[in-house]
Amino acid sequence: MTTMSAEFIALHGRCSSLVLELPPGEAPLWRHWGARLPDDLDPGAALRDTRALPTFALDQDLPLTVAPVFGTGWFGQSALLAHREGRDFAQGWTGCVPEWTVPGRALTLHLSDAVAQLRLDLSITLDADSDVLVLRATLHNDGDSALDLQWLAAGTLPLPGHCDAVRSFAGQHVHEFLPQTDPLTRSLWRRESRRGRTSHDCFPGAVVTTPGATAQTGRVFGAHLAWSGNHQQTIEWLHDGQYQWQFGEWLAPGEGRLAPGASLTTPELVASCSDQGLDGLAANFHAELRRRLDWPGGAMRPRPVHLNTWEGVYFDVHPGPVKAMATAAAALGIERFVLDDGWFHGRHHDRAALGDWWPDATKFPDGLGGLIAHVNALGMEFGLWVEPEMVSPDSELFRAHPDWALQIAGRPLLTARNQLVLDIARPEASDHLFEKIAALLAAHPIRYLKWDLNRDLAPAGLGDGRAGYRAQVLAAYALMARLRAAFPEVEIESCSGGGGRIDFGVLRHAHRVWTSDCIDALSRVEMQHGFLQFFPPEIMGAHVGTAPAHTTGRTQSMAFRAAVALSGHLGVELDPRRLSTEEADELRGWIALHKQLRERLHHGRVWRGEAGDGLRWQFHADADRADGVLIVLRTRPSDHRQPPALRLPMLDAAARYRVRELRPDGAPPREGRHDTAPFFDAQDSAEGVTLAGAWLAEVGLPMRRAPAETAFIARIERV
Ligand code: DGJ
Repeated sequence: MTTMSAEFIALHGRCSSLVLELPPGEAPLWRHWGARLPDDLDPGAALRDTRALPTFALDQDLPLTVAPVFGTGWFGQSALLAHREGRDFAQGWTGCVPEWTVPGRALTLHLSDAVAQLRLDLSITLDADSDVLVLRATLHNDGDSALDLQWLAAGTLPLPGHCDAVRSFAGQHVHEFLPQTDPLTRSLWRRESRRGRTSHDCFPGAVVTTPGATAQTGRVFGAHLAWSGNHQQTIEWLHDGQYQWQFGEWLAPGEGRLAPGASLTTPELVASCSDQGLDGLAANFHAELRRRLDWPGGAMRPRPVHLNTWEGVYFDVHPGPVKAMATAAAALGIERFVLDDGWFHGRHHDRAALGDWWPDATKFPDGLGGLIAHVNALGMEFGLWVEPEMVSPDSELFRAHPDWALQIAGRPLLTARNQLVLDIARPEASDHLFEKIAALLAAHPIRYLKWDLNRDLAPAGLGDGRAGYRAQVLAAYALMARLRAAFPEVEIESCSGGGGRIDFGVLRHAHRVWTSDCIDALSRVEMQHGFLQFFPPEIMGAHVGTAPAHTTGRTQSMAFRAAVALSGHLGVELDPRRLSTEEADELRGWIALHKQLRERLHHGRVWRGEAGDGLRWQFHADADRADGVLIVLRTRPSDHRQPPALRLPMLDAAARYRVRELRPDGAPPREGRHDTAPFFDAQDSAEGVTLAGAWLAEVGLPMRRAPAETAFIARIERV
């Protein structure tokens, strides 16, 4: 569209639009990213025609562009920082050619800097259904000397000035997705990670809210870098009252050095906005991830329930006991048996053996075949733990190739969990890993790899002395892709000491993530709530662990542990041989209930709520809210003698709903009668109770008196 001497480009989703203005000879200006605008809406005027120059400013007006740079006189964060031996330090775009790659949906802006001899291709795609915007930049060095690139934003997004807060995640090992809310002010907001992996403590994503936004209402914006390495994001107040949000890979010194003719492509920046609050935004991200996941056979099959051996026996994996575990697991209804750490040559503790990827002869003298056949005969798939990117100093691999560890000559090797990082960007190292893992996959029906990564990269020195953070991530992706291409029926779990590598980048290759090494159900409530902001439940590894929980020492009932894990990709992580008959029966009931519900839990939308008074809830339903599963978790005792009703604002006010309590077969009877009343008995019957959507949304569903760390689960169907 063209109006008053200005040209515009618009992309429209279902509920959002973006509009760029294309002044000649410079980068496109951001005019809008937010609510859906009519298809041919005329912006009315060129932006500069609507703004007077402030006093004491440059004599050119510099609005926010898609790639603001230093050389035009931009004083804010630059989307590009680079130089040639100290020269060409300030770039400026002198031309832009837009090209539709998919008309109306996907566009590449070809920007050029004739002075610094650079080109930037910025691709922008807005998915019509999910309202997810994907940005990615490629910088080409067209000069005849090397360019030192220090920073290249994958994208620069505009945020309206009334945004008031940014919600991100802090955390640590065994406490991922710790919510952190910061006010947006005139100070620069910045989060960055230099750990070489996605990290436990600084998830590469955030949500920006506008005043009054809630879980279900109000305008919110979200962005996530699809990358498993270093990252940086900033939100900066601009002098015209809006904010710019920049996101990209943090490059170590020298990592962005581009020889003449070379180019560098950033990771994808995945962003979205919603007028339906945090859950509307979550639905957009879930839709985008579901579109990306590359399932064996082309489609997700119901997520098989796991037994993971780790917390059950740790390194003590001997075929006899492990077979007995498998037999006990099958009797619970387990569908995939995952042999965790401890199975390979010399691996009896965490001080040795990483790199020696063949079965330990003292534990498995005849290899893994017997165990795998036993597991398969029980009707379960077999999965195997590996940590390919690592090497123990005490390993045959390291003794043979000490130079294959990331290191800096003359500096000490820094171990973490007694291990070093392999330089898998070396073709010989990644070929070696491919051969070793491929040999196992070719010899046995192994359908699943739990792919771990148990330390940060510090420092990631390559053999030639340069930094290798970026190379390491790309090489890990390439190794996963190569194994998947050779063994397309194999699924991969991305684990990194729990949740250290959870991102849309690794999820191009993986199918499940291990959310956290903390299986304590109470801790998991908050972590999973945060996780679901960006990721759908079917990829969320959620296990029923032991009581007391190994990482916290806290004890919760089987029912609470199972209810918290119920909505994710369910697993069990304990030694099933040690369960009493009653515990095994109860767990079997929960697994059966999960199987009954998983189609509903793992498709459609998720709404999440915090109702106060210690109640958190999740509602998994189709987009029409005709059929859903409600999971209500009481994390602490109620402050009230009679707990308030629970409002369910996402329900259709015009509909009527049948609410039926769901309990697993074999669940122990409720203790005492202090927690019941005729309504709850009816709700607990096969017919359930029928209530108006408007009533449930505004007044709420009566809540039973219940002790702390208990759950209430119900099917809610439109009648
Ligand atoms: C860390 C993982 O998060 C655990 O689940 C387990 O696989 C251990 N590593 C094994 O070393």
